[in-house]
Amino acid sequence: MKAAIWAGVDEVTVEDVPEPQLLNDHDVLLRIHKTVTCGSDLHLIGGYIPAMRSGDVLGHEFLGTVVEKGRAVQRVQVGDRVVVPSFVACGSCWYCSQELYSLCDNGNPDPGITEGLWGQSPGGCFGYSHAMGGYAGSHAEYMRVPYADVGCFVVPDGVSDTRALFASDSVTTGWTGAHLGGTQPGDVVAVWGAGAVGQMAARAAMLLGAEQVVVIDRLPERLAQVRTHIGAEAVDFSTTDVVAELRERTGGRGPDVCIEAVGMEAHSTGVQGAFDQVKQQLRLQTDRPSAVREAIRACRKGGSVFVLGVYAGMVDKFPLGALMNKGLTVRGAQQHGQRYVPEILAHMESGALTTEHLATHTMPLSQAAEGYRIFKAKEDGCVRTVFEPGS
Ligand SMILES: NC(=O)c1ccc[n+]([C@@H]2O[C@H](COP(=O)([O-])OP(=O)(O)OC[C@H]3O[C@@H](n4cnc5c(N)ncnc54)[C@H](O)[C@@H]3O)[C@@H](O)[C@H]2O)c1
Ligand SMILES: [Zn+2]
Ligand SMILES: [Zn+2]
Repeated sequence: MKAAIWAGVDEVTVEDVPEPQLLNDHDVLLRIHKTVTCGSDLHLIGGYIPAMRSGDVLGHEFLGTVVEKGRAVQRVQVGDRVVVPSFVACGSCWYCSQELYSLCDNGNPDPGITEGLWGQSPGGCFGYSHAMGGYAGSHAEYMRVPYADVGCFVVPDGVSDTRALFASDSVTTGWTGAHLGGTQPGDVVAVWGAGAVGQMAARAAMLLGAEQVVVIDRLPERLAQVRTHIGAEAVDFSTTDVVAELRERTGGRGPDVCIEAVGMEAHSTGVQGAFDQVKQQLRLQTDRPSAVREAIRACRKGGSVFVLGVYAGMVDKFPLGALMNKGLTVRGAQQHGQRYVPEILAHMESGALTTEHLATHTMPLSQAAEGYRIFKAKEDGCVRTVFEPGS
């Protein structure tokens, strides 16, 4: 079958790879209808995440039909149209029982690399390097999904493929940040990054009752989507002092919840940004944390900062003094999708949550290299490139 693989830093190619097989009674095989690029893939393709091997199949946001199932699978049937969170979770370990699915003790069959890096291993993720379990990804005609009863959610008939697709990763990630960031009815929430993840964090905050939501980015077409499709306020960080602007818009207090949805390749307009870039390239720090720094400065005293953007290792000039003296709560997570997909699909069915505008580009899987090039360059207003392996 055809699949989009990582062939080296900044190299995506489409090649023939062996079809996946059921390996366990709890597995299903999916025929993939739609699979989509994610900002996380850019960190991977750019060589910032360790433990990719040439030939690894990319992709972790997807929707497909069950074509074969293991004997122990009960909740899904052959023929079901399903969406699956990008993190693999067993459903029965202590972390899964706490609904912290991306921290599953059994999701990553190869925990040594991340234990060495971080002291403990989080769960595994489809198509996200051997550090995250070495699972083949979704940019392929077929895909194996382990722990299918935990990961597969049947999509209601009234929800289109394109809408449901984003319940796999972008929406579930945004929901994780808005919910675990502690959004309460009446809150002011600020979100850094107007990619699919930031937009969905903003929408989740609104659906959780936030009164005012402000999204920060510099790309005009994304800021326009924030205003038109999300219904939130938009701020351009390339022309605005973000901290001062947020103070101004919140009666001097600052946002209650600050969600960072940018990650380790953040842009920065100042000298500090140039230093971060040089240090990252010289490997003196692994990540560029300018959006996290700004979120900590902007947040109201006693507020909460949630890091959704992906970071791999160490950062420099972390404002620990502000964090401590302002009494902030700082949290982060990979998405705990299995916890949120049912309520997300219900909001999609009612029409309260729409995602179609994120799919700015759609093409056959054979054009994956070009699809990634456009996505990385954010060319032609690209927010996400959707690949259709069947077309
Ligand atoms: N925690 C999770 O489970 C999870 C899941 C999916 C994605 N992610 C991460 O979330 C982040 C966002 O993902 P995405 O797919 O939306 O990425 P994306 O690359 O499409 O969007 C990132 C956006 O951040 C903007 N940006 C850059 N620097 C900024 C700054 N200083 N202030 C404000 N905005 C800035 C960019 O212009 C861009 O629009 C990535 O780091 C990705 O790896 C995390
Ligand atoms: Zn992702
Ligand atoms: Zn588990």
